[in-house]
Amino acid sequence: MKKVFVKSYGCQMNVYDAERMADMLASEGYSETKAMEEADLVILNTCHIREKAAEKVYSELGRVRELKQEREAAGRETKVVVAGCVAQAEGKEILRRAPAVDVVVGPQNYHNLPSLLKKPRSERVVDTEFPVEDKFDHLPKPSKAAIRNRGVSAFLTIQEGCDKFCTFCVVPYTRGAEVSRPVAKILDEALRLADAGVRELTLIGQNVNAYHGEGPDGAVWSLGRLLHRLAEIPGIVRLRYTTSHPRDMDDELIAAHRDLPALMPYLHLPVQSGSDRILDAMNRRHTGDEYRRLIERIRHVQPNLALSSDFIVGFPGETDAEFEDTMRLIADVGFASSFSFKYSPRPGTPAADIEAQVSEAVKAERLGRLQNLLEMQRQAFNHGTVGQTLDVLLEKPGRHPGQMAGKSPYLQPVQFESDRHAIGEIVTVRIMRAGSNSLFGEWIGPDSQAAA
Ligand code: 5AD
Ligand code: SF4
Repeated sequence: MKKVFVKSYGCQMNVYDAERMADMLASEGYSETKAMEEADLVILNTCHIREKAAEKVYSELGRVRELKQEREAAGRETKVVVAGCVAQAEGKEILRRAPAVDVVVGPQNYHNLPSLLKKPRSERVVDTEFPVEDKFDHLPKPSKAAIRNRGVSAFLTIQEGCDKFCTFCVVPYTRGAEVSRPVAKILDEALRLADAGVRELTLIGQNVNAYHGEGPDGAVWSLGRLLHRLAEIPGIVRLRYTTSHPRDMDDELIAAHRDLPALMPYLHLPVQSGSDRILDAMNRRHTGDEYRRLIERIRHVQPNLALSSDFIVGFPGETDAEFEDTMRLIADVGFASSFSFKYSPRPGTPAADIEAQVSEAVKAERLGRLQNLLEMQRQAFNHGTVGQTLDVLLEKPGRHPGQMAGKSPYLQPVQFESDRHAIGEIVTVRIMRAGSNSLFGEWIGPDSQAAA
């Protein structure tokens, strides 16, 4: 049996795509390996969102090249594939810069991998056309064993691409226009996952709350409506979705946070900046106060909501005062967790052409201050759960023998002593202590609950 090694960079969509590639290659006779040196096929599933992420690929390809040469000396062939967003954005350029690469395949084309891999060694290929057909229609379904192996919490892509064109972002170019999968196909995949023991679904998309898929009734379904339907699936006890845009939080979705117990009280809603001028220059199409009011509305229906966000510091032209506006917004809103980045100019995006780029030193200083504040908020949030009783979805054995580990509704890792529980159960735990990354608790109920 041939072996494939897949390495994914960047977002959750890439994790999902990597799994689909592995499923597809399983039916082509490849088994997955975690050791690159024993792989007959190496796939790098790449990310183009910031320069650092994109450059990582080339340094990795240097190592892959050495490995390929060593294996060749031993008479073994290694095929090398670059997939994902760097493949989409740079195409042929990758073949030029990295001689070890055999195939470059975009995120909308990886269903073609089996035929691309059959091409002779002399023929290096690039497949980054946006096809008319749906790649998902061509992908084999994962086996129950493969699903189980990946755990009780699964990603499910419901939407791809983005039409928002934030001026800093490559996504509309690498992932293309916004496309929603039809409800029937999502349900089919969700039922299959639930049947194999999945308890939690995280619906993913580059702009997931813009979802507008065709329903079985012929009507267009919103994300709110889709969540209601998915919550009816036996075995599915938790639902999440990511990543969202503030402009697409419609009334139906907000109401779902009130009406659906399975929808976890946790929302990743990137705001990027707290300055109205910067938000406008980013083409985010909302103000800081509009974001504040939106959060108030969601918290009004779901007072337990834990919020998470992305931030960019040092967008071109950002002044000290504008950066302070972001710090103020963070102080006003309060975030349980977050991701923050220095602005990175991306070729082909409008912001990269703005002359007033912020210096590296200023970006570093701002990022340091912003991350301190966000870290204080994260710790405060975690400490705030000490003494509470939280439902925990059990995902794996804990760090030490006799311990179990799972996630709280707020996505916090929780550890507790247990010798009687199974992965996939939801148990009630009293939180006793907050460490720097995990919570530690005591099991208080229920006595036993059959895992699906
Ligand atoms: N520079 C820095 N951060 C970026 N992001 C997207 N594009 C850039 C860029 N050019 C961040 C945004 C987005 C997250 C996925 O990555 O915060 O929400
Ligand atoms: Fe990029 Fe998100 Fe803006 Fe779309 S909404 S352009 S993916 S930052």
